[in-house]
Amino acid sequence: MNIQWYPGHMTKAKRAMEEDIKLIDLIIELVDARVPYASRNPDIDRLGRHKARLILLNKADLASETWNDAWTAYFKARGFQAVKVDSRSRAGVKQIQAAVLAACKEKIERDRKRGILNRPVRAMVVGIPNVGKSTFINSYAGKACAKTGNKPGVTKGNQWIRLNKSLELLDTPGILWPRFEDQQVGVHLAFIGSINDQILDKEELALRLIGFLRERYPQALMKRYKSGENEGVSETEEGMLPDSLTLLEDIARIRGCLIKGSQYDLKKAADVLLDDYRSGRLGRITLEFPPDEENT
Ligand code: G4P
Repeated sequence: MNIQWYPGHMTKAKRAMEEDIKLIDLIIELVDARVPYASRNPDIDRLGRHKARLILLNKADLASETWNDAWTAYFKARGFQAVKVDSRSRAGVKQIQAAVLAACKEKIERDRKRGILNRPVRAMVVGIPNVGKSTFINSYAGKACAKTGNKPGVTKGNQWIRLNKSLELLDTPGILWPRFEDQQVGVHLAFIGSINDQILDKEELALRLIGFLRERYPQALMKRYKSGENEGVSETEEGMLPDSLTLLEDIARIRGCLIKGSQYDLKKAADVLLDDYRSGRLGRITLEFPPDEENT
């Protein structure tokens, strides 16, 4: 599958990011907890090399708790502060303040030595499209906090939201670009629904996802597509799941995705599967795992 998905406006985003980063102390980088590698921006470490860093594993509610913890530990071992959050329900959001202070410890200490007390940390939320930046800002900032108005040096009418006496947030998130050159990254972002589906072959995408699930999460498929009325997914004599195409046909049969009453409508079945995965109805499923320590 060759995914052509470079959106032209990303060059502009890159320039805006370079400007905005100059204004802040702390980068709050959102990644998708299901694909923490694919949803990370390849250039952010360079762009933000002199800044304090906090990584939020957002949509943690859709990813496996075990792997959420493993990824959190992975990022912490590499010197980042890291917190898993569900921006929709606000789970984990309370842990962020302590992580912000820990990430900015050096800056706060530097200020203190120079006699600057209580200068708030200025932070910016960044992440690739659809990772949950706006949802996060809304749930973190809430309605209570006032905007502090324009400040000199802030371009495009950007505003700061004063969250508390020690933290100000740039009100517009920074849009980052993914690793365009890596096809596997494209496929993973397509699985989670972050790439416009119209440019993709849905059936092939679904077959790939089934291939992954039957390896790593066979129970999720068995459980979801077992129904009372229709017998569930086929099993081989050894009680194993069949090949991916048979499984997609099973989903078509179980969900009544038929063309002209008899033929399987595999496109529709692909939609069912992708939708079930993206909405969490297949369970909490992480698609990427931290590399083993010895391989990093
Ligand atoms: P962006 O600014 O980074 O582009 O992302 P945005 O906040 O628009 O969020 C993209 C989608 O992800 C939204 O769903 C949002 O509700 C969902 N989302 C954000 N954070 C979380 C989270 O922690 N957990 C889960 N499960 N979902 C999250 P949508 O379907 O596009 O919109 P809506 O149906 O919620 O209105």
